[in-house]
Amino acid sequence: MPAPVRKAVIPAAGLGTRFLPATTAVPKELLPIVDTPTIQLVIDEAARAGIRDVIVVNGRGKGAIEDHFDHAFELEHTLRARGKDGEADALAAITRLARIISVRQHQPLGLGHAVLCAREAVGDEPFAVLLGDDLIADRGRPGIGQLAEVHAVTGAGAVAIMEVPAGQEHLYGIVAGDWQDDGAGGRRLRVREMVEKPRPGTAPSRWAIVGRYVLPAAIWPLLAATRPGHGGEIQLTDALRELAASADGLHGVVVDGERHDAGDKVGYLRANLAYALERPDLRAPVLAMMRALLESAG
Ligand code: G1P
Repeated sequence: MPAPVRKAVIPAAGLGTRFLPATTAVPKELLPIVDTPTIQLVIDEAARAGIRDVIVVNGRGKGAIEDHFDHAFELEHTLRARGKDGEADALAAITRLARIISVRQHQPLGLGHAVLCAREAVGDEPFAVLLGDDLIADRGRPGIGQLAEVHAVTGAGAVAIMEVPAGQEHLYGIVAGDWQDDGAGGRRLRVREMVEKPRPGTAPSRWAIVGRYVLPAAIWPLLAATRPGHGGEIQLTDALRELAASADGLHGVVVDGERHDAGDKVGYLRANLAYALERPDLRAPVLAMMRALLESAG
């Protein structure tokens, strides 16, 4: 039986240029969805899948991410002194969510390189990768946990996939292969072909990778051997293509849950509204606000 997935890697070294000027001094991973930083939502997903160690691959100016998950002693103390124990407990719970390990990516050489920076911290065991720009709002079954289940059964790598509208393939890593019965009433794609951001009109399918992966340790030598690809960067997708062709193999899994692209301005706003609508305290006032806004926009 394959080893359980206990560690996750979160690449967080990007400059966040799409959200300037908000990201001049604040890491984009700390931009909130309603009131919770995106990276906390992603770590919460991992924690609910039983992952305890989270390796954050960061660059310069990302110290605030570590501070966010550290004990906020003064803040907690002040809240308790004011009788706000609920808020203080919520803060303390963030610290317990996961053990955060920070590693540095000294040069922005691509997503594959960022993951490779976590090699020593992960070691010789299967691990998860979660990209912070992709949020998967689930109803109890964390997306990354669904991939871990496929890995547990097959021993192969697993990536989350979704079908994107024609014309959007060039924004994603695209996979193609053979659909298989998963033996539990569902199906998964045995990946045969992969291409990172195909040129318009050349994609082998409309099945796009969304930022969740569970990878066996066999990915490490493949990543180390990966040369720069699309955009001159070391691409995770290129190493995964080698994994798919190896005895280990790779499966595409359509995970339950709604995916949001929080790395895009409109996607980010949509995620804020969608998460707010799931909150009992916010649903009614936010709906009323949205209706009024729509009306006044004409
Ligand atoms: C990355 C991956 C790509 C994947 C995408 C999902 O691209 O390289 O394969 O489809 O995330 O969000 P990025 O969006 O970081 O350019």
